[in-house]
Amino acid sequence: MSIGSATRRILGKKLFSKVGRGYRSIFIDLNKTAICMSEIIPRNAHILDIGGGDGEPLNYLLPLRRDISVTMIDLKSAIGNAVSTDYKDRLVLLPNTDINQFRLLNHRPPSCIIVSDVIHHIPKEGRKKFFQDIHELMAISKARLLIKEIEPGYFISRLSYLSDRFISGDKKVSLISRKELHQTIDMIFSDNIINEAGLFADNKPNYLLTVELK
Ligand SMILES: C[S@@+](CC[C@H](N)C(=O)[O-])C[C@H]1O[C@@H](n2cnc3c(N)ncnc32)[C@H](O)[C@@H]1O
Repeated sequence: MSIGSATRRILGKKLFSKVGRGYRSIFIDLNKTAICMSEIIPRNAHILDIGGGDGEPLNYLLPLRRDISVTMIDLKSAIGNAVSTDYKDRLVLLPNTDINQFRLLNHRPPSCIIVSDVIHHIPKEGRKKFFQDIHELMAISKARLLIKEIEPGYFISRLSYLSDRFISGDKKVSLISRKELHQTIDMIFSDNIINEAGLFADNKPNYLLTVELK
């Protein structure tokens, strides 16, 4: 069992999310991230949050954009448990679901896709397939893709890596730079336009890229 899971057991759900919130603020300002995202999410967007996890970032994003709704998918069975019940009418949770399973469900197609702090948890050898699946989904839905990641090479990046590696217990964690992410997307999506949103300037080493198909 990872240190993270053991701490969750000892503290219980409520206290763990409180402590977790404080702990996470060392690495990321969720408010700044939400503001940055809210400025580039299309109007009345239906968002597919891939790898949404506990959903804590949605508590910052959803109050800023009352016109949007979210479907969250994740490989895990317990997801969305940090999201306030205030937003339950705008949130659909699909646990144990990857991108291909989502497509088979014929669920409402997204106009925007968010992939936040997920890529660095996908083993390097699995990233090509992950992006191919996203590209297929974007080709059908014409969705705008927002990717939030952590630039390596900074003190906070190192700390974040160590936390993922030894507290969350992810043995395959590997940060991806803006340059590498850009190259990976260019290689898989030949028809893309990539832009960088202002998050890096505002909340280094966190960064946010947007990708659209031409
Ligand atoms: C660090 S959490 C990020 C959670 C949330 N997006 C956030 O920013 O707080 C990474 C999540 O991605 C999920 N994940 C990893 N690979 C995935 C995949 N191929 N499809 C869906 N979810 C995935 C993991 O199960 C985990 O819940």
